[in-house]
Amino acid sequence: MDEIEEIKRRIDIVDFISSYLTLKKAGANFKALCPFHQEKTPSFMVSPEKQIFKCFGCGKVGSVFDFLMEMEGLEFPEALRILADRAGVQLQRYDKKEYQIEKDQKSKLYEINHLSSEVFHKILVAKPKAQFVRDYLKKRQINEKSIKEFQLGYAPDQQNLLSNILLSHGHSLLDAEKAGLVTSGHDRFRDRLMFPITDTLGNIIAFTGRAMHETTAGKYVNSPDSPIFSKSRVLYALDKAKQYIKEKKQAILVEGQTDVIAAHQHGYKNVLASSGTALTPYQLEILNRFTQNIAFCFDRDSAGEEATKRAIDLAYQMGFDVKVILLPAGKDPDEILRDSSEVFGKALKNQTGALDFYFEITFARYKKDLGPSEKKEIAAELLSAIKNLSDSVVRAHYIQKLAEKLGTPEKYLYEALENVRLSKSISSSKPLKPSVKKDTLEERLLGLIFAHPDFIKEFVKKVNINEFKEDKTAEIAKTIKKYYNENAVFNVNSFKKKNPSFAKQIDFLILPYEGVADDDILRQEFNEYISRLSGAQLEDIKQSYEAKIKEAEKSKDKEKVKKLIQEFQKKVIGK
Ligand code: CTP
Ligand code: MN
Repeated sequence: MDEIEEIKRRIDIVDFISSYLTLKKAGANFKALCPFHQEKTPSFMVSPEKQIFKCFGCGKVGSVFDFLMEMEGLEFPEALRILADRAGVQLQRYDKKEYQIEKDQKSKLYEINHLSSEVFHKILVAKPKAQFVRDYLKKRQINEKSIKEFQLGYAPDQQNLLSNILLSHGHSLLDAEKAGLVTSGHDRFRDRLMFPITDTLGNIIAFTGRAMHETTAGKYVNSPDSPIFSKSRVLYALDKAKQYIKEKKQAILVEGQTDVIAAHQHGYKNVLASSGTALTPYQLEILNRFTQNIAFCFDRDSAGEEATKRAIDLAYQMGFDVKVILLPAGKDPDEILRDSSEVFGKALKNQTGALDFYFEITFARYKKDLGPSEKKEIAAELLSAIKNLSDSVVRAHYIQKLAEKLGTPEKYLYEALENVRLSKSISSSKPLKPSVKKDTLEERLLGLIFAHPDFIKEFVKKVNINEFKEDKTAEIAKTIKKYYNENAVFNVNSFKKKNPSFAKQIDFLILPYEGVADDDILRQEFNEYISRLSGAQLEDIKQSYEAKIKEAEKSKDKEKVKKLIQEFQKKVIGK
């Protein structure tokens, strides 16, 4: 598609990335601290010549499109539009009349929301009639910085205050209604504390309003869905949290807006909320662009526990690594943070797996002294969750925990486990998609070799190429070995010429090592990769034998078990 090529031609990647990061010249390239993982020394490289970036710490690589998508959590079409605008390239397929009309309609709604948010915010911070709201926020310990950061506002108890302002700015009531701010000719939000809801780029797409007087019906009211807002697809504060989610490599989900604001104010900035809806697959899909690790920190009341159970199941099915943060009973994160930031921090550190959460809520339903029928009930419930665990060591851990808590010897629990059916809930269903963790160790090792072919001999000797896991790298590694055996010396250019299908990838692989001349560092790195790679291979061998041994145990084939164990030991020692 030539539009894309044209955009790439017009936007210099060095320029573009400079608007996000401070780039320093390093030989023919530029380097910076990588925005996609935490690091102290720069390993993020940008090549003006190839118009690509690559981080040799985390392995992220790509064009200006990839950078924007990764940085802002965008899908390709969104990135395309933004970059086309910036490059002044007209996109043919988006240039149809229909698209233009839709775009104009949407930008009107954004404008209306933006203006309304400014109006509400100004009233909150400056008007005498909002003094009681400022007092309220003070009482809730929401400080001025948070009020500004989250653009909180106040919608006074007047029928047409906002609609008149919108009209005076040339907007129609019809558009104001489409934006959800006006209903039957009057302001929808009245006498409410206003929380603007933003998309990932920070555009205001809707509002939540919290009642300021007990007599008002509905504690929280949200804007209805509109062409720019779909309640089930939005996460509150994602635009503010996304950068920290990447840094911390985990997203923490709470229930309410006030919980998010309190958390951010106390420095827990990877926190966001699904405000006002049960967590949806769409929301998780969006989150998945930023992390595969999620921790739920919902209110410790019965509604919160139910919500946690559902959220765990959903997130697990979507391939997330799921943790639960258990708060002291009966409180929400905001209340706890108001009491003590430390208690919250501690709960955060002590985050547990989903099963510990099940233990906690199951035992909490019973009194301390358990009778035989109560023990049976608890065992039935928790054993069915334990049975779903795929790892026998982890299973043993929870059997032991259950035995201790019930005062029942483990062997009886194992007996009971035989008769338990797999539960439909937690962990029962296979993840819908595997998590997208990517190990680039193999790529890094290959890059090092292409940049410094001195290592080739050792590489061929020490690395068992059959155990390369990624198809692409395995293929390249095999080809290197073959080439080396045939040619005795290794020349990158002639290798590229002989294998043109790898040429582009080799450029990517080499990039981080270009211009690095320090032999000691390279040697150290090479040794580390070799040893880590064989460590990873060892882990694979272990896992495959574990499965085989389990299988043999199941069929009670003692001879085979013995043989497998011997084989395994030989392999491991031989490493
Ligand atoms: N919510 C909603 N509609 C309601 C009640 C709640 O949309 N009628 C949403 C809001 O996003 C709210 C969240 O659910 O933040 C959690 O509700 P709740 O625990 O009742 O409110 P808190 O966040 O504790 O709010 P506050 O501390 O202001 O009472
Ligand atoms: Mn609350």
